[in-house]
Amino acid sequence: MSVSVLDLSAYVGLVAVGAVTLNLLLGMLMAFRYSPHRSWPHRRFNYFRLHNWSGYIALSLALLHPAILLLNKDPRFRLMDLVYPIYSPSQPLENTIGAVALYLLAFVVVTSYLRLRLGRYLWKSFHFSIYFAAAALFFHSLFTDAGLKNDAVDWFDGGKLFVEFCLVLIVVISLLRWRYSRKKALRLRQVSRQAATSL
Ligand code: HEM
Repeated sequence: MSVSVLDLSAYVGLVAVGAVTLNLLLGMLMAFRYSPHRSWPHRRFNYFRLHNWSGYIALSLALLHPAILLLNKDPRFRLMDLVYPIYSPSQPLENTIGAVALYLLAFVVVTSYLRLRLGRYLWKSFHFSIYFAAAALFFHSLFTDAGLKNDAVDWFDGGKLFVEFCLVLIVVISLLRWRYSRKKALRLRQVSRQAATSL
């Protein structure tokens, strides 16, 4: 079995999607204040570090994935087609959305690296761009034809099934996270109202 340049690029892209998914899930666990010591698996485990590393790995793979396309013979991708894919030889819209995902991912990883210098408020508002990056990368991963033939999307192809699974996982956990923040805000409001009436 031989692996073509396009296959290799697609595999690297799929692992990048997996790394972003892991990164988002760990980030949301932190937002829930999940403690692996208090809850399952009742062990001390520094998942903040894993969250950081999965971000660095995701960005490296997301950079490698389009770079591999430079080795493709037909169609040929020039560096400019990857950096600014509006005129790229195949599926320019999907590629441009992939590039937007890559730039947003790079922005989130770099600003996280500078977190202490930026201060918590600015860093956090930048960090929310990961949700826009995720929307762009899921659109790109689901709608690009990995064979570059402009074929209709095969929703049951192995790669697409993996991306769909990651997407469902993230949507479910994001909804839970949103419910958690709403409940927390409501509780805070109730406490401050009670404090005000007892004065
Ligand atoms: C400059 C940025 C990007 C460009 C120009 C680009 C371009 C492409 C192209 C041409 C394809 C179809 C050929 C192939 O499979 O390699 C593709 C597929 C794919 N891309 Fe990207 N991409 C970019 C960024 C990203 C990012 C940031 C991710 C995820 C983190 C990603 C994930 C994927 C996945 C998962 C597939 C394969 C889908 C499948 O197997 O059906 N791409 N991309």
